[in-house]
Amino acid sequence: MGEHDQKQQLSLVLLLVLSLTAAPARGADLASDGTCFSPDRRIQYRIETDAAGIPRYAVSFAGEEVIASSRLGLLYAQHPGMDEGLTIEGTSRSSYDEIWEQPWGERRRSRDNHNACTFSLADPAAGRGEPRRELEIEVRAFNDGIGFRYNVPEQDGYDDLQIVEELTEFSIDPNATAWWIPGRGWNRYEFIHRETAAGEVILAHSPMTVRLESGTHLSFHEAALVDYPAYVLDQRRAGIFQTNLTPWSQGIQAYKSAPFSTPWRTIQITPDAIGLLNSDLILNLNEPNALGDVAWVEPGKYVGIWWTMHLGESTWGSGPTHGATTDEAKRYIEFASENGFSGVLVEGWNIGWDGDWFASGAGFSFTEAYPDFDIEDVAAYALERGVRLVGHHETSGHITNYERQLDDAFDLYESLGVRQVKTGYVADGGRLERVDEDGVRHFEWHDGQFAVNHYLRVTVEAAERQISINTHEPIKATGLRRTYPNWITREGARGQEFNAWWDPPNPPNHTATLPYTRLLGGPMDFTPGIFDLTFQGDDSPQRVQSTLMKQLALYVTMYSPIQMAADLPENYGLYPDAFQFIKDVPTDWEESIAVAGEVGDYVVYARQERGGEDWYVGAVTNEDARPVTLNLDFLDDGRGYTATIYRDGDDADWQTNPYDYVIETQSVDKNTQYELTLAAGGGAAIRISPNNE
Ligand code: NOJ
Ligand code: CA
Repeated sequence: MGEHDQKQQLSLVLLLVLSLTAAPARGADLASDGTCFSPDRRIQYRIETDAAGIPRYAVSFAGEEVIASSRLGLLYAQHPGMDEGLTIEGTSRSSYDEIWEQPWGERRRSRDNHNACTFSLADPAAGRGEPRRELEIEVRAFNDGIGFRYNVPEQDGYDDLQIVEELTEFSIDPNATAWWIPGRGWNRYEFIHRETAAGEVILAHSPMTVRLESGTHLSFHEAALVDYPAYVLDQRRAGIFQTNLTPWSQGIQAYKSAPFSTPWRTIQITPDAIGLLNSDLILNLNEPNALGDVAWVEPGKYVGIWWTMHLGESTWGSGPTHGATTDEAKRYIEFASENGFSGVLVEGWNIGWDGDWFASGAGFSFTEAYPDFDIEDVAAYALERGVRLVGHHETSGHITNYERQLDDAFDLYESLGVRQVKTGYVADGGRLERVDEDGVRHFEWHDGQFAVNHYLRVTVEAAERQISINTHEPIKATGLRRTYPNWITREGARGQEFNAWWDPPNPPNHTATLPYTRLLGGPMDFTPGIFDLTFQGDDSPQRVQSTLMKQLALYVTMYSPIQMAADLPENYGLYPDAFQFIKDVPTDWEESIAVAGEVGDYVVYARQERGGEDWYVGAVTNEDARPVTLNLDFLDDGRGYTATIYRDGDDADWQTNPYDYVIETQSVDKNTQYELTLAAGGGAAIRISPNNE
């Protein structure tokens, strides 16, 4: 943490009170001592051991049982399991209420207000002459949910611990509605979300979002996923989801050495859908910034030699239609410089893309350019124009090939003044290649312990050179951007690219679902801003299922501190007045408020520019047109503002009339209620600036 941050943190600590160790609790005392309440006492986590000594917990929210009795425990390969025969031997409690500052983010200040309760479990087998075994369940109860994790203390024989199963369960009503994508699928996290009864889920990635019949919303996820496999939600019995850890290729789930803590198992619990969006629970459960002064991490907007390859108009590989040529890169740099973009991504500049690069990354060099791309010249040309080259490392999942070159690869970019690198791991799920010391090949998942460690290693190597990372085909986001602010964004869902391909494009409800699901983990590099929505002609099913105005709104609704203007430069010339919004919209925020929405239907966000006074509103809808009443009560009292409104025209419809739009201005203030109409597959974007009075 930088000196400035430390001072901030110290001066902003409001309260740190109450740390006590309760007397050992057994039998009848358990109910009270096994309880951890949120500060407002609406959320209650209760832990107990049953007659067989199996640890179990349950959670209630405002009197409603949201998680029924659910198991806890860990199983080890070579040591007795911590799953039964246990007693709760002690409880320690503390409370926190502090404000901490994000170097960049949805809001400058976040509040971490929680009660912490650590329950010490032990196997009283010590009495039978066996070594005593211990496990702690550490719980943090916030007003918007729960985090809990296992702490495995140092103990005899635990320096080489192999975890073969985590028994954590989330037991919910199978009739609840769930939004989810399949776990352990070939396409990693790149699937369309399904909306089903929770009871119909089989194996799902987190975050998984659930609406109970009462209207309470839950999101199951994890925070601070470090040196441990990710879990997928595995429905073992109706409504009972187990944290199924993604194994190594040899079958063990995690190799650990005690003492250690698992990632936090998180349950966000809110009375409505937008409550999930306004929660900082995941970030609050991550460790503070470990990188010190990160002024070199630069939010911003970028363009790039990218969409043209996805459209099939040019190639990553060499040849007559090679996309990444020196001249083409300079054209993009000029466009970026003229229009205020800070970065230009170039994909396909380095050797290795010829042939079936998708199938193997063994041939990628991360330092050698194709002959028609002069990387020194391009990088210098960019810097002269106030722009930076954005680097790219596509690994095609060959981790060993990449790790062997990691130092040289980042040294090169550092020497060229590159501050951001987009990485890529295109390989089917379970097909990341690891070659061990004996030259033996293994294939690993993108979310097993091996991959989790690899992704973080890359981030740390990059940080040493003041480079930020945008991971594609990543491990899911679990809030590590707080600890490593140079892990600036990532993909990890179906992005805009899917609209260019053979596959059915993303349906209109996709971007009305992602904020409530994938984005709860953190920022996403969705790459909005396609202006030529019907690039194969009006009659082709291959198109972007969106109105033009929805493309603008995505800059506000799909949070990322770096945002791409993904289309070809010439296409922005088609609608210069609409392009103005992309030029204006910031990517770093003082405050963000989700003001309205329902999962999969629509979402409306208001965000205030970091270090500025302007507010930006983004609203997107699914396939249904809908009216939205926008209360501008987030504006300052007693001030007049001018709103520039970019909205769907009266006849707009993503299918029949996607380019129908209106740009108009209106005087507004805090009391204004603005009636917006979103077209089918449409959206609206608004910039609200205070009047100079
Ligand atoms: C998939 C990424 O998501 C995309 O952005 C990139 O262009 C290709 N891989 C090639 O690296
Ligand atoms: Ca991708």
